[in-house]
Amino acid sequence: MKVSFKVNGKQVELDVSPKARLLDVLHDDLQLISVKEGCGEGECGACSVLFDGKTVNSCLIPAFQAEGHEIVTLEGLRQWPGYATIERAYLEHGAVQCAFCLSGFVVSTVSYLKEQPQKDGVSEGDVEKALAGNLCRCTGYTKIVEAVKDLAEHEKIKTQFEEDWPYEK
Ligand code: FES
Ligand code: FES
Repeated sequence: MKVSFKVNGKQVELDVSPKARLLDVLHDDLQLISVKEGCGEGECGACSVLFDGKTVNSCLIPAFQAEGHEIVTLEGLRQWPGYATIERAYLEHGAVQCAFCLSGFVVSTVSYLKEQPQKDGVSEGDVEKALAGNLCRCTGYTKIVEAVKDLAEHEKIKTQFEEDWPYEK
């Protein structure tokens, strides 16, 4: 069956099996290898992408459901100047080790920061809730939460969403 959607700003049309998952189409057909299979059951977040601006697990979504929607993967986020701000915060806080989980965490970070007005005193609980769908087996969550909390409390990333966000949603 044919499916047509936008991915990282480009319109694509593909012939997909009715059983294909969005994960398979993004990773295998479109070679967007940041979208990875971990658990395949919606538990780990390794396959996370933005779907109309919200984080979803692409392993749980049939590819045909992307019809007419906008998908953004880590490859697309790298084209946005705000990605460098997020990457710097993760590095400064030592929040990455093997990086298997990183694309999922960054996707959830973007989804959270897009909705979150920047303010002092963001609670760790808020950040933990926003990242709850992502598992990391090596860094431990404290450093990741600190990195995202730091981002949420600074004005720069807000400006980068307002002025430079290249996608529709
Ligand atoms: S592979 Fe999709 S949530 Fe783990
Ligand atoms: S840094 Fe290795 S799984 Fe998170």
